[in-house]
Amino acid sequence: MFQVEEIRKEFPILQRTVYSKPLTYLDNGATAQKPRVVLETVNKVYSELNSNVHRGLHYLSEECTEWYEASRGEIARFINAREKEEVVFTAGATASLNTVAQAWGSRFVHAGDNIVISEMEHHSNIVPWQFVSERTGAEIRVLPFNDEGALCLDRLPQLIDSNTKVVAVTQASNTLGTRPDLEQVIRAAHAVGAIAVVDGCQGVVHGGVDVQALDCDFYAFSGHKLYAPTGVGVLYGKRVLLEAMPPFMGGGDMVDRVSFEKTTYAPIPLKFEAGTSNFVGGIGLGEAVKFLRGLDLKAVEEHEHELVRYATDEMMKIDGMRIYGNTADKCAIISFNVDGIHASDMGMILDKLGVAIRTGMHCAEPVMTHFGVPGMCRASFALYNTAEEVERLVAGVKRAVGMLR
Ligand code: ALA
Repeated sequence: MFQVEEIRKEFPILQRTVYSKPLTYLDNGATAQKPRVVLETVNKVYSELNSNVHRGLHYLSEECTEWYEASRGEIARFINAREKEEVVFTAGATASLNTVAQAWGSRFVHAGDNIVISEMEHHSNIVPWQFVSERTGAEIRVLPFNDEGALCLDRLPQLIDSNTKVVAVTQASNTLGTRPDLEQVIRAAHAVGAIAVVDGCQGVVHGGVDVQALDCDFYAFSGHKLYAPTGVGVLYGKRVLLEAMPPFMGGGDMVDRVSFEKTTYAPIPLKFEAGTSNFVGGIGLGEAVKFLRGLDLKAVEEHEHELVRYATDEMMKIDGMRIYGNTADKCAIISFNVDGIHASDMGMILDKLGVAIRTGMHCAEPVMTHFGVPGMCRASFALYNTAEEVERLVAGVKRAVGMLR
């Protein structure tokens, strides 16, 4: 049995109030709150261990490096990477996806090639590929979704052909909550020799991932949505691909030998970790992952599903409610609008009631364009949210409707 009240005690921020009201934090898709163990670990690293990693022979540097590398190992186990060298620490999912696009794209994508991107991608899995397209002349092709929010997988045979080099797709849409059938997409990519690049930002939080079972080539996620500190994320890549692609950024730590005539590079993953990395964040991410591994993740997923089901049922009773994304196994995200009410007005009223949601385009403007709306309200749930919080959200939406209509 999942004990949500026990879990909540581990997240200090959840005890606070805003405008003298209990905080109802439903903006987890943007960033999640941090459990005490992560906060304590970050504090411990700064107060007892802080020293640059991979650079010093002294005690602190070696200890800090050990923690950092142990954390890489934790993360590799969490996503089931074959080896920890396939886990590259980055500044976040955006940095991860830009790294693939710049490093892999610059070597392996050429004029005449095409890149297939799903219509529901976050801008981070669109714009980096547009950079590649602009530089190389490669064509961008869009895999559309239908009004339910499901990817139109029947279009794959028309879109993916022998000139496809990259298929970029999300594991779970940050707006629609849709979890596409990635196995089908990845199989279609591999059938023509293309790589599959998966944005796992929301997916890794809601249900996790097994990168080997999925057989994706690259997988990106951010720490801060996974109950870890900000400014750190992961790029998973298959060894053979990481080794084949050139580094993206040059600097310290990513080199083997440097001379003015020629520089050689460090082995993976360090080849992609130029400069002092966010080792404190990386250690914090390892701690967050340990925290999650200590829970029954199936029960967590079921709890989040229950919340989204309950919220959907109650919200649909509100006159003029439109929920975007209605696939059966969507993750714990509800994007919505109420007829005649601007998303920002809804968000402002909910805020005054202590309910934090996100409003706007959610960095997924093509999704807004698909539905012909300037923005949406989004409630996104985490493992610490409760049915009572769903009730506060619904009551808040009703109140806003009463005031704004
Ligand atoms: N990408 C984050 C979101 O979906 C910020 O809100």
